[in-house]
Parts: sequence; structure tokens; C-alpha cells
Amino acid sequence: MFFNDRQNSIDKIMEVYMETVKLGILGMGTVASGLVKIIELNNSKISDSIGKKLCVEKVLVRNPNKKRNSGLPQNIYTTDAYEIINDPDIQIIVELIGGIDPAREHIKAALKNKKHIVTANKALIAACGGELEELAAINGAKLMYEASVAGGIPIINTISENLAANEFDQITGIVNGTTNYILTQMTENGLEYEQALKEAQRLGFAESDPSSDVEGDDAVYKIAILASIAFGQEIKIKDIPKEGITKISREDINYARELDYRIKLLASAVKKGNEIEIGVHPTFIPAKHPLSTVKNEFNAVFLKGNAVGELMFYGKGAGSLPTGSAILGDIISILKGGKTGCHKFKKIEKYKITYNAFKPYYIRFEVIDKPGVLGKIADAFGANGISLASVMQRQKNGDNIAPLVFITHAAYRKNIDAALKEINKFECVAKIADIIMVENFE
Ligand code: HSE
Repeated sequence: MFFNDRQNSIDKIMEVYMETVKLGILGMGTVASGLVKIIELNNSKISDSIGKKLCVEKVLVRNPNKKRNSGLPQNIYTTDAYEIINDPDIQIIVELIGGIDPAREHIKAALKNKKHIVTANKALIAACGGELEELAAINGAKLMYEASVAGGIPIINTISENLAANEFDQITGIVNGTTNYILTQMTENGLEYEQALKEAQRLGFAESDPSSDVEGDDAVYKIAILASIAFGQEIKIKDIPKEGITKISREDINYARELDYRIKLLASAVKKGNEIEIGVHPTFIPAKHPLSTVKNEFNAVFLKGNAVGELMFYGKGAGSLPTGSAILGDIISILKGGKTGCHKFKKIEKYKITYNAFKPYYIRFEVIDKPGVLGKIADAFGANGISLASVMQRQKNGDNIAPLVFITHAAYRKNIDAALKEINKFECVAKIADIIMVENFE
């Protein structure tokens, strides 16, 4: 007890003499509130770690008169970003506005003023990470963005620091919590897509306009960042094919379960020789694979390094405290003078960026239930060099229309599309309802 009291008094005295590091924050939404809360909650732990005190000096908001529960004094708020960018006392600026503009202009101006930047802005880093890193390097400042991918999971600094000795073969992630929540609810509670989306919105996992999440754009930004860092080559978002989850029906989910698979929105980058196959798609994955156990709003990143082997990181991919934790990790790293924040987006062309996966596919048709249909479709697949692994025809939907489900052996998507183009002309085929890639992680 005596030693604890003595230590506490010493800590208090040290704290009085500690240098204060002033932070500016651009934006005061959910993540900024989490950041402020952690600074308050874990104040002495943070000071112990860096030997300095953190203090929020100014915060950019749209409406300075709005009542907020941040615990920050009212006079800290400003509507002028340049009050923060040009403040000589502010060392680190945390950008939490999101989107490309005006965030990009603010960050550029701040880097030119030699401020360090910490951001959670995945769209901006995916679009201009290289350009901003160059500007940071020229100005001797750091640009850190751990919070831009998978919220609380420390994946960016892990790939670029702790695993830097590895050549990577694969990075595959469930990096969007909204879609993972929706797919989990469809799988486990039998909800239809629209019902699950409404529930996600009610719980605050999905935005009122969920398009960036459900159409796959959010996951594209994140895999662009992860793959650019892991493979040492800037990968452009325009080169990443994507498909969202809006077409996934409960029928697809049920067939997946019957076949001992789960459907997940995977963001994946795989190295094959001098090519990187990259894309974002709903995917059948084996029910026993660790990524199948990632449920609801949780995220996970699975990777293979040539030295470390397989690794999987799991945690909350969004939310005020997990994302705030990632931001503070970057702030602490800057203040400890670590090497993180160096140039990670390299403008070189080591690899060709492709999407040429040779994988099995799940294909669901709605067909007219009459003799010869199955054979006709199977022949069209065969004529296009596609070998079938299994077929299921269960119950009628009424109106003489029956679902017919095929799982193919590994095939190129272009051959699948050629076969489907032919099959689509058959009058016995009412609809090609869905095509989903199967990933067996072999
Ligand atoms: N909207 C994202 C998600 C979180 O649903 O995972 C922030 O990147």
C-alpha cells in the first residue's frame, strides 16, 4: 500500500512537469467522441506510454452552438479548419470528416505546415494515399491511417511493421461490418435482405444511405489499402472489381448452409506469380473455415506470409471506441518517434493487377420443370469446358418453376459467362438467379 501511495505521488508530480501535446480534430462525429473519451478514460496509461500529456486544443465542427456530450469546453469548437491547420501550437491533426474533399485539401495544407496527420478516411487514403504520403515525407511529417481499415483491428501497422519481413501470398478479409451483420442475420435468424438491413440501420451499424457498404465500395477502399501495403505496389480502386450483397437471397443462404458453406462478403487479394488477383464479392466459404465464425458487425483479416504462415486478426471494425483506439495508437506511435508512417504506397509496377480467378461457382437458376432441362443446361456447361461438381433440384416454386442449383468445378468466370449467355437463351430457363464464387482456401 505504502509503495503504491508513493508511486502515485511521484506520478502526479511527473505529470505536472510533462510536456503537453496539442491535438486538433477535424470533425466531431461518433469516432471523434470515442477518441476524446479514451483520452479522458486512459489518460495516465497514455501519458505513461509517451511521457507526455495529450490535450484536445481545437475541434472543427459545422455548428459550434450545438449541444454535445463530449465533455469539451464550448470555446474549443471552430467552423474554420484553418484555425486548426495554421495553429502553431497544434502538433497533430486528426482528420475525421471523411470523403475526398475538403478532407484532402485540409490534410495537404496541414502537411505543408509540418503537422502530423492521423486519419480514419479510407476513401481518401485508397484514392490518394501515395500522393499524401509523398507530401508528408517532403515536409518531414507523418501520415498515419490505421483506423481506415477494420476499425479496432491493428492490421495496417502490423503488415507494414511486424510482418515486414514477409512476402505475402494472400490477404482476405471480412472488412465491412454492415454487410457481415446483414448476412449473419439472414443466415442465423432467417431474415430477408431488406429486414436485416432495416435491423442494421436500427442498431446503428448501417447508414441511412447504406449504398457504399452494401454495394461493396467500402470494402474496395479497404482491400485497396491493405493490398497496396502488403504487396508494395499502389493498387487503384478502379482496378478492383466489386459486387455487393443486394442480390443475395435467403434461398442462396439456405443452399450454402445445406452444402456446408457460409456466404460472406470477402475482400481478397491473392498473389499468383507476377499477378495479383483482387476483388470484392459475396463468396461461399467452408463453414469450418475461421472466417465463417466471424459474425454480425465483427471484421476479420486472414493473411498468408511466406515466413509467418497463416494469421487471422479478429475484432470490431467500426464504432467510436475501437476506431478511437486505432487513432490513439497512431498518435502514440508518432510521439514515440517510430518509423511507422513512412512511405507505404509505392508507385511501381511489380505485379499485373487482374481478376482471373480459377474457382468453383455456385449458380442458381429458375427453370421450367419439364423433362430434358437439366441435361440441356449441363450440355451447355460442358460445351464451354465447365465441369459440374454437383446439382440440386429441390422443390417447386409454384407456376411450374423450379429452382435448379449447380456447383461447378474450378472454372474461369469468362467461361462461366459464355455458358450462361447460351443458357439464358433457352426458353426453359426463366431466370439466372445468382452466381457466387466458391472459395475453398486450397
Ligand atoms: N461502414 C463500415 C462498416 C465501417 O460497415 O464496416 C467504417 O469503415
